[in-house]
Amino acid sequence: MKLAVLTGAGISAESGVPTFRGQGGLWKSYRPEDLATPQAFRRNPALVWEWYLWRRSVIAKAEPNAGHIALVELEKKYCEDFLLITQNVDGLHQRAGSKRLVELHGNIWRVKCLSCGAVYYDYSVSYAQLPPACKECGGHIRPDVVWFGEALPEDALELAIGWARSCDVFVVIGTSAVVYPAGELPYLAKEHGAKVIEINPESTPVSPIADVIIREPASSGVKKLLEVL
Ligand code: APR
Repeated sequence: MKLAVLTGAGISAESGVPTFRGQGGLWKSYRPEDLATPQAFRRNPALVWEWYLWRRSVIAKAEPNAGHIALVELEKKYCEDFLLITQNVDGLHQRAGSKRLVELHGNIWRVKCLSCGAVYYDYSVSYAQLPPACKECGGHIRPDVVWFGEALPEDALELAIGWARSCDVFVVIGTSAVVYPAGELPYLAKEHGAKVIEINPESTPVSPIADVIIREPASSGVKKLLEVL
């Protein structure tokens, strides 16, 4: 059985990382157009960096939870027939031990230089100057995440679409599925005959096409998944 899993911010909620749209979600207090667009970065790179450094400090205190860990168990069980596709930039799947992982929206601990194009991991939660300087050329760096209006990394998206089209089971965990193209994947899987399983304490646009719904938080819901699979 070929199994693909799509995760969103909800899987990290129980680790203390705020979601975007739920209660206490980031977009309730901040405007994405001020902080998560290339235009916002051009207008005020220091403000954008201050926000990403705050998010880094929250994520640095977080630990992977039972939901992240149960997905590592699934990966071990299904090996080459398993792929984890995440919208999350927090790196908690990697810290839990996930290997067969595709990041659709980048990673908050990676930076990209606007001058020389260097991409590297950087675990700083503060910098002497904002925007920070590239360690290779001294140019300005930005977080290596996908901002609104930007294209997703082509190879990651292609791989995710390929698995959505060819998997037998497509599991959707902790996403409101309103951001595209990631939100398209469950429908693509359904169209190609996959069984769709949703794990989310709340209903989402995916709920009507789900064959199985586990209306629980990820920490208990993924464990339940191990039982139904
Ligand atoms: N377990 C499982 N799901 C949960 C939990 C939990 N403990 N807590 C909340 N949820 C669910 C919510 O019900 C909601 O459906 O997680 C979902 C979170 O949705 P969003 O906040 O919209 O996050 P996400 O879907 O990942 O956002 C997609 O939008 O802002 C951009 O780039 C950002 O990757 C992000 C994308």
